[in-house]
Amino acid sequence: MDLEHEITRLKKDLNAVILAHYYQESEIQDVADFVGDSLALAQQAEKTTADVIVFCGVHFMAETAKILNPNKLVLLPDLDAGCSLSDRCPPGPFKAFKDKHPDHFVVTYVNSSAAVKALSDVIVTSSNAVKIVSKIDKDKKILFAPDQHLGRYVMKQTGRDMVLWPGACMVHEIFSEKLLVQLKVHHPEAEIIAHPECEAPVLAHADYIGSTKQLLEYTQSSPKQSFIVVTEAGIIHQMQLKSPGKTFIPAPPDNGCACNECPHMRLNTLEKLYRCMKDKTPKLDLPPPLREAAYAPLKRMLEWS
Ligand code: 13P
Ligand code: SF4
Repeated sequence: MDLEHEITRLKKDLNAVILAHYYQESEIQDVADFVGDSLALAQQAEKTTADVIVFCGVHFMAETAKILNPNKLVLLPDLDAGCSLSDRCPPGPFKAFKDKHPDHFVVTYVNSSAAVKALSDVIVTSSNAVKIVSKIDKDKKILFAPDQHLGRYVMKQTGRDMVLWPGACMVHEIFSEKLLVQLKVHHPEAEIIAHPECEAPVLAHADYIGSTKQLLEYTQSSPKQSFIVVTEAGIIHQMQLKSPGKTFIPAPPDNGCACNECPHMRLNTLEKLYRCMKDKTPKLDLPPPLREAAYAPLKRMLEWS
């Protein structure tokens, strides 16, 4: 079966839009209507006029689309596509942590469950976290969750002190500083570009730090011809498409593999995408009270962006 052809046909039949994150496998990126980072995908989800949103990303991203579109059908090719960062911040312990800091303004990374978002004052993504934290009144204390590395990076950029939830992403925390330095020795001409979810010793070597979309745009505008890419390797597909003459070298993780892929993101496949559109399942549902509680901090993020 020509899966790409069938997916395009189903897209018309359902009046669906396919949104895909940069960490999806390249075949999925190529059939998507829109490929983006977490913020751009949320913005697309907010403004789409399609009846059905097919979200090729992880659970919290599809949840975000549903929070913004309670009356639309939101499909996710594999409902088990979770996120290690989100999983390490369950709502019960997060509520207890928040209660210990009652006078703090709660800033939560979008890589979190709807229940954690519902306990927050504002949501951020990796592309707007610095901007949003800078907007918070100087006399307000801030609690930031769940990614401690992004939190530390934001503290450095904004000069604001923040109480951090001790979370991390399993993909970004296994980049090896030692192997990165060795790679740079072999490719001294290459610029190192990194996602802010990486640990501080890795970020210290970066020539540029940004969200997936910002990294992609940087590779387009930089006069350099080669880049060591310190984030999930899926983004390299778009980098190659946008700058075919340039060289992109995936930074190695500390587990013996040459490149670093998110096991959650990679649960989605072209075949599962086809099946979910054909069967209109698995679909994402949220109880209305939870959706409404998570909507306010998410909407605030979209307004402040
Ligand atoms: P972006 O905000 O760059 O899309 O990052 C999403 C993500 O999951 C990073 O691990
Ligand atoms: Fe979550 Fe990390 Fe995968 Fe992003 S790369 S979805 S933060 S586990």
